[in-house]
Parts: sequence; structure tokens; C-alpha cells
Amino acid sequence: TADGPLAGRRVLVTSGPTHEPIDPVRYIANRSSGKQGHAIAAALAALGAEVTLVTGPVTQPDPAGVRVVPVESARDMLDACRAALPVDVAVCAAAVADWRVASSAAQKLKKAPDGDSPTLTLAENPDILATLSAPGPDRPALMVGFAAETEHVIAHARDKRARKGCDWIVANDVGAAAGTFGGDANTVTLLTGDGEEGWPPLDKTEVAERLARRIAETLGPAP
Ligand code: C5P
Repeated sequence: TADGPLAGRRVLVTSGPTHEPIDPVRYIANRSSGKQGHAIAAALAALGAEVTLVTGPVTQPDPAGVRVVPVESARDMLDACRAALPVDVAVCAAAVADWRVASSAAQKLKKAPDGDSPTLTLAENPDILATLSAPGPDRPALMVGFAAETEHVIAHARDKRARKGCDWIVANDVGAAAGTFGGDANTVTLLTGDGEEGWPPLDKTEVAERLARRIAETLGPAP
């Protein structure tokens, strides 16, 4: 069994984008690299936690000592997260698509001879962070979400924390100037029930290590 301040703790991390199928060969996606989520999974495992990483399609290598569950769509991600419960902590770092194609085609869509283009009708995806944060017997003791914003970062993050029912929000500026998406660095503010802490610009791996230490301090040793 593992050593470290999170030994005996079960943790769930979501990471990466989701892919929402249009037909068997096409999908809707986003630019999430999975760097931050994968780094968090690695940092929690390094502190001794038993980590399940539910990840959308990424090119990041599997972090050492982590159980990796690859998924594609938001609905698959929610199913995989539910299957990983119960956990002490869940960190939702995935960039989950807000919408999926309402009825994806079973066969590849073909160009129509008359030149008509297909119309995609979208349906809202489940919010994984809000779903896992809802009160109930399986509700993790600590729910952590992310808020990627391009303006009014803190105000939006405060709203998000209340709306989604999570305990902490890691707010980051993803405006083009910040270079967060796909980059190695991240400047974040941690919002907890007790206050708001601005962290200095850090490497994504350092943000992950700092967050993992905070989680360990907050939980204390496993019973
Ligand atoms: O609402 P927004 O997408 O900005 O919220 C971001 C936070 O919510 C992140 O922690 C993200 O992982 C989570 N989220 C989720 N499921 C969704 C949408 C967002 O878990 N469908």
C-alpha cells in the first residue's frame, strides 16, 4: 500500500476534452490538452491517493500509478465517473462539451446531390461537476471544479461555485494573453468556503502539486 498524506484516500479526476459524435467518423471537440487534469492525477497519486483518471481523448501519457479510464463523450464520462464512486475527493478538470448532437447518425453523412447541407440539432450535455456535487450518500467529501474564464474571472468563479454546489473552484484566466490552453503555465485563484487565494504564475505541474497538498491538508489522514 502507498505512503503519503493521501494514503487510503480514493480520488476521482476528470481531464481532457470530450468528443461528441456527429456520425461514425466526425465529432465536435474543443482545444483542451488534458495537461492540467493529468498533472493533478499524477500529483494526487504521488501523495499516496488511489486515483481514477477519467479522461477524454488526449495525447498526454498515462500518469504513473493512476487507473486511467478513457472515454469519448460527456455522457460516457459521467457514466465512468459514477462507476468510480465512492471517492473522498473529485477534481473535475475536464473541458466537457456543453452540447452533443441530439441524434448522431449511425452511418457516415453523405453530401446531398442537390447541394443541401445538413443541420445539426444540439442537446445539452449533463454537467458532471454539478451532478457529482449534488447532495446524496455518494457525494464526495470534497468536490473541486475549475472555472476557465476570459474576463471577470473571480466574479464568474464565485457564481459557478454556488451554482454547481462544489466546495472549491480553481479559477484560471484562459484569455489569449494568458496562454493557458495547451501551454505549460497557469495563473489561478483558489476559491474555497473560507476565502480566495491568488497563486503566482506556476507551471501546470506546480499548480497540481500545490492543489494536491491543499487537498491532503484539508482531508487530514485517512481514518
Ligand atoms: O460551466 P463551466 O463549463 O465553465 O464549468 C467548468 C467546470 O465544470 C469544470 O470543473 C468542468 O470540469 C465542469 N463541467 C462538468 N461537466 C460539464 C461542464 C462543466 O463537469 N458538462
